[in-house]
Amino acid sequence: MKHFTCLLLLFLVLITSFSSTYSTIVSHDDRAITIDGQRRILISGSIHYPRSTADMWPDLISKAKDGGLDAIETYVFWNAHEPARRQYDFSGNLDLVRFIKTIQDKGLYSVLRIGPYVCAEWNYGGFPVWLHNMPNMKFRTVNSGFMNEMQNFTTKIVEMMKKEKLFASQGGPIILAQIENEYGNVISSYGAEGKAYIDWCANMANSLDIGVPWLMCQQPNAPQPMIETCNGFYCDQYKPTNPTSPKIWTENWTGWFKNWGGKHPYRTAEDLAYSVARFFQTGGTFQNYYMYHGGTNFGRVAGGPYITTSYDYHAPLDEYGNLNQPKWGHLKQLHTILKSMEKRLTYGNISTVDLGNSATATVYSTNEGSSCFIGNVNATANALVNFQGKDYHIPAWSVSVLPDCKKEAYNTAKVNTQTSIMTEESSKPKTLEWTWRPEVARKTILKGSGDLIAKGLVDQKDVTNDASDYLWYMTRVHLDKKDPIWSRNMSLRIHSNAHVLHAYANGKYVGHKIVNDTKFDYRFEKKVNLVHGTNHISLLSVSVGLHNYGAFFENSPTGINGPVKLVGYRGDETIEKDLSEHQWNYKIGLNGFDHKLFSTNSVGRHLKWSAEKLPSNRMLTWYKANFKAPFGKDPVIVDFNGLGKGEAWINGQSIGRYWPSFNSSDDGCSDECDYRGEYGSDKCAFMCGKPTQRWYHVPRGFLNESGHNTITLFEELGGNPSMVNFKTVVTRTVCARAYEQNKLELSCNSRPITAVKFASFGNPSGHCGSFAVGTCEGANDAVKVVAKECVGKFNCTMNVSSHKFGSTLDCGDSPTRLFVEIEC
Ligand code: GAL
Repeated sequence: MKHFTCLLLLFLVLITSFSSTYSTIVSHDDRAITIDGQRRILISGSIHYPRSTADMWPDLISKAKDGGLDAIETYVFWNAHEPARRQYDFSGNLDLVRFIKTIQDKGLYSVLRIGPYVCAEWNYGGFPVWLHNMPNMKFRTVNSGFMNEMQNFTTKIVEMMKKEKLFASQGGPIILAQIENEYGNVISSYGAEGKAYIDWCANMANSLDIGVPWLMCQQPNAPQPMIETCNGFYCDQYKPTNPTSPKIWTENWTGWFKNWGGKHPYRTAEDLAYSVARFFQTGGTFQNYYMYHGGTNFGRVAGGPYITTSYDYHAPLDEYGNLNQPKWGHLKQLHTILKSMEKRLTYGNISTVDLGNSATATVYSTNEGSSCFIGNVNATANALVNFQGKDYHIPAWSVSVLPDCKKEAYNTAKVNTQTSIMTEESSKPKTLEWTWRPEVARKTILKGSGDLIAKGLVDQKDVTNDASDYLWYMTRVHLDKKDPIWSRNMSLRIHSNAHVLHAYANGKYVGHKIVNDTKFDYRFEKKVNLVHGTNHISLLSVSVGLHNYGAFFENSPTGINGPVKLVGYRGDETIEKDLSEHQWNYKIGLNGFDHKLFSTNSVGRHLKWSAEKLPSNRMLTWYKANFKAPFGKDPVIVDFNGLGKGEAWINGQSIGRYWPSFNSSDDGCSDECDYRGEYGSDKCAFMCGKPTQRWYHVPRGFLNESGHNTITLFEELGGNPSMVNFKTVVTRTVCARAYEQNKLELSCNSRPITAVKFASFGNPSGHCGSFAVGTCEGANDAVKVVAKECVGKFNCTMNVSSHKFGSTLDCGDSPTRLFVEIEC
């Protein structure tokens, strides 16, 4: 009996230790990342958890999985998690553990790019401003204070993940981690210390013993055993410098970000698919889309200066989480095909055949067979090539994928996926009933009393610790009649790095400067009328996101760094009175923020809001209104057309900065967008001469579905809130063009298909909304065929074939295609 009990105990111990240490072994060789010893083709996509809300995560991750992704990548955002030294926040959409567990629940892997420098168009690249304000601090180099804080935060994140058993080595989803970010781009600026620093990063990361490989992106000759990787719009030409690193692409930029005053970026599905197929054709085995879902820069997290609140990125999932079609679907098809070739791509012998006309075939062969790519890198000329005895037509700037080397299963330039047209709709446009309050500055600020006093002008970051976008700089100047400046025309001259500057003299507005060309170092000069005796000069410096990129970006000046002068003019003669070394009073933020006027439990609840004489185009004004949440589940947006610049809150939660009055320039857009040739962030841009961002995402999670909701605005420049309107983003029209012998899938984004507006199988032409029948058509009535398959359903799939649509006569040489337009 005793013997039996011992055996049973041993058995139980074995079982429990087996289940708790069940782990996935992640490693790599020179060809690929290996999981449990098998080389893998891995497709990953970036979703930054704080750029959506926790209740959006499951849907975003499911859509990524449906799109054929194996992994979700995210950065970790240090300044969001440690807003004050050793005070941490992992609540709400900062709940990193919950995010990684959501990925795990959906059965995907995850890639954790800890940084903790992240760039990412995130405020200050993810660094906390308190770190900058520590004594003797130098970022991203051999500096004990910096290294100590970086190690502290990195260790904290690693320990959190370990505690929840989230590393693959512990049975969790995290297969790879990253330390630092693109340091290779700036290392030369740091001299010998740069090398010492990156070696230290590698050693520090290694010592954390996470049991999965570490990455260093854009880091040629990365210290071993770090895996170096590539970032960019294309990485087919990339070869790791280290012979043991597999070819990994950590950032395939799916589009681009926006600056206030910029246009909407647009990267075509054809070109993005081309870059992916070229990467796998040339031996790549791991690829991550940056971004797969870009999302929203809520609150003040946008970097910059001047990164917009929307971080849509033209990614496969749009800002609100809808499928961005045809991008999402065109890539999904490519992923399925690449996955079907996984063994050959990772274990096969590779041979390339030059087919002439800029076309190259790449053959991956194992004992079980071969898979092929035929790429045409010419940006204008199509190629007709003969490969293994068969002719192939490879359009310019495209790759054909032939999983069996015989039949083209996919060509990156031939899109067989629908385009969804999103419209903004409001059920009953309602005028909101606004109340308002002025931002009260007159008595205190404009008379020069603040929180802090210093001799001279201090950088905005140093004073505010970035607690606010706003900082008042206030000083006094005494002028008596004997002052030589007195008899002259006087002006106030300010050298400044404030992203926006408002100047007051003796409580009167002098003027402002808005930077509209990203040159943040300028001279502002305006005429002033001063008095005998004491004069008050009050300057409001506004920051619009801190720098996030470049060597020593942390030292880029913010605020008013001077000199600030009074300049007196008489004829050709000028005299200057320098105020820079005066005593300056500083006030961080604005009174309305101190009273939390945006909050639902406002400390300023006793303050009165007026419903009378609603002002329009009034600077520094607070507005508030109640509204009902739009009915249904469609994403909600708010139209800020008519407003100037400021910040907006829904039920106390900031939906970010707004600036609809900032238009992009009129030129640089064209109606035609040619996918061929290298993409750059300006290529195919659209929305010229229009507000860079007019609509702002209001996540459903911020709203009370039934009952009251409150919107609060702080309007800085002056605007007219009467046009503010809540809308939903709805798919009303779907168009598709598919080549014969493909499967076409149509879907209306979770609503039923109601009608078929157009369908023709043959040689139809035109753009979505104006499709036209060509000179030939299949024998069957295409509209009826599609209607029978689709109407009343949420989605439908059909073969694009003459079997289904009837044979076509007299179509000539042009390939037979199906064009469809449906209504949702
Ligand atoms: C990369 C950087 C990313 C992001 C991207 C542009 O250089 O690593 O964090 O900033 O550029 O969107």
